[in-house]
Amino acid sequence: MTTPMLPVPPNPMVSHPNRMGLGVFGLNVDCGCAITTAPERLRGDDWAGNLEVAKAADKAGFECLIPVGRWRGFGGESNFNGVCYETYTWAAGIAAVTDRIAVVTTSHVPTVHPPVAAKQAATVDHISNGRFGLNIICGWFGPEMRMFGGTMMEHDTRYDYADEWLGVARKAWTEPGYFDHQGRFFNVERGFAQPKPLNKPVLINAGGSPRGKRFCAEHCDVAFLIMNQASEEKMREQVRSYRDLARREFNRDIKVWCYAYVVQRDTLEEARQYLDYYVNQHGDDAAADNITKELGIQTGIFSPEEAEQFKFHFKAGWAGVPLVGTPEMIVEQFETYSGIGLDGICLSWLDYGAGLRDFVRDVIPLMEQAGLRVPFRPGADAAAAE
Ligand SMILES: Cc1cc2nc3c(=O)[nH]c(=O)nc-3n(C[C@H](O)[C@H](O)[C@H](O)COP(=O)(O)O)c2cc1C
Repeated sequence: MTTPMLPVPPNPMVSHPNRMGLGVFGLNVDCGCAITTAPERLRGDDWAGNLEVAKAADKAGFECLIPVGRWRGFGGESNFNGVCYETYTWAAGIAAVTDRIAVVTTSHVPTVHPPVAAKQAATVDHISNGRFGLNIICGWFGPEMRMFGGTMMEHDTRYDYADEWLGVARKAWTEPGYFDHQGRFFNVERGFAQPKPLNKPVLINAGGSPRGKRFCAEHCDVAFLIMNQASEEKMREQVRSYRDLARREFNRDIKVWCYAYVVQRDTLEEARQYLDYYVNQHGDDAAADNITKELGIQTGIFSPEEAEQFKFHFKAGWAGVPLVGTPEMIVEQFETYSGIGLDGICLSWLDYGAGLRDFVRDVIPLMEQAGLRVPFRPGADAAAAE
């Protein structure tokens, strides 16, 4: 007798009942998002620690785990992000020990041929029972990209490449039989890919240039933003611009997420002292300089001057939005971000284990009281979202 197949639940990253979605960002890389030498920073080769945090986030009802795609460090004393796990294999391992949370791969498309990536994606989707997501990265860090063939494409060409790459991956995910593809970058003769993913992979992109935004609006389910923190109005406008572009040009609705660094303490003063400790006293300025210089040159997001102004935020959490203060203050900040139209925020800490533990204990209950999240009951949330 065969066991009847249970229906596959929808991917929680795009189907959940919460006004403010939550994720964990950068668990797979040394230092996570904090450019610092403070001793309690995350280690990029701590698999047991990764499992602990991933399981705790899963148990607390977080929507997603998004790793950083990284192939080499940024120098400085910390060689920020230099030690790190590869993200498809990372996702496979995490998927096997979690039950509900979306498990994302962050992939530089020039580093992996699309039929290979599509097959890896389908495999992680099966391991996770339909919880796979793909964060599509085109590459901007020259020394990293030159590890794969010695060159880096011109900025907008990278997105043309990603367009075609995704077209091939989609064929692999959907064509029941053999498929062909002849294009500018890829040539696939009688391609074949089985099994298919259980759920359509959730597609994410973090492009900020006009070409990047267009790619995101045309293809992706989630825009993953670095916020322009000049003012609340600027942030609202930024979020709106992605949604409007997707709706106007491609007749699509997309979700908009960003990421944050969390410093939660009993008083604001203590939180500020802790920030000062790991950002100013232990910050790795050389690594931060390497990043801001390269980002300024390679992407459409920052001018070098803006990147320089942003340096404190870079060191604190890769220029994410700050969630700093008491649990009550952090919930107020979430209210603001929800008010400007964000659907979710991926979190990072200096010490992910302790940070997540405190957040789940103190902040999540207050988010529930504020109506930002519904109390997590495994199995019930997917039904409520429908
Ligand atoms: C939230 C977020 C996450 C990102 N994650 C990565 C990553 O893991 N690896 C990487 O090389 N680049 C990452 N990037 C860089 C983007 O892929 C992209 O190159 C950058 O946002 C510039 O966009 P543009 O190419 O449209 O100018 C990230 C950017 C943002 C905003």
